[in-house]
Amino acid sequence: MNNDIKEILYSKEDIAAVTKKLGTQITKDYADKKPLVICILTGAVLFMTDLVREIDTYCEIDFMDISSYGDATESSGQVKIIKDLDKSVEGRHVLIVEDIIDTGRTLEKVMELLSHRDAASVKVCTLLDKPARREKVVTPDYAGFEVPNEFVVGYGLDYTGFYRNLPYVGILKPEVYAEN
Ligand code: PRP
Ligand code: MN
Ligand code: MG
Repeated sequence: MNNDIKEILYSKEDIAAVTKKLGTQITKDYADKKPLVICILTGAVLFMTDLVREIDTYCEIDFMDISSYGDATESSGQVKIIKDLDKSVEGRHVLIVEDIIDTGRTLEKVMELLSHRDAASVKVCTLLDKPARREKVVTPDYAGFEVPNEFVVGYGLDYTGFYRNLPYVGILKPEVYAEN
């Protein structure tokens, strides 16, 4: 599995340091707000569980999974919720956690879904931001690293479902995805 990686972009230590920094900022910004931290499955699960351990104030966690349609269905604007939140966001300060914002489609859909639910506030924290590929106008409130336009995997990010368990974020060798 490690042999499929061309270059490590962010080491385990880099990720831990930036997560701590983000957690410290979030702790300050959300003191007394008892935020509801929402993990967008599946990619964000590793980052979210590390991030909340750096948040030193009362917070709850919840999970949401939405489908990513192909382009044809995309234009219809349909969103399928695979797994909705268990908790109500009404009156809550919501912090959405993502592993990466790429085109921005996923985040735009999540924001749209939540916009009808009367949250007190909705902000976004992403480990990786890849603005080079942005199609939708979405900007994270908190971001760990601005990532170059490369095929990255690890620490939650997958290729064909694999590599999520790498403890670092790296660039996948082109020959690995050229095989398919
Ligand atoms: C990945 C990633 C983000 C999204 C970002 O999820 O985890 O959620 O894509 O891309 P976008 O900005 O272009 O929407 P994916 O849909 O692959 O599902 P996964 O989290 O289960 O891997
Ligand atoms: Mn995802
Ligand atoms: Mg994926």
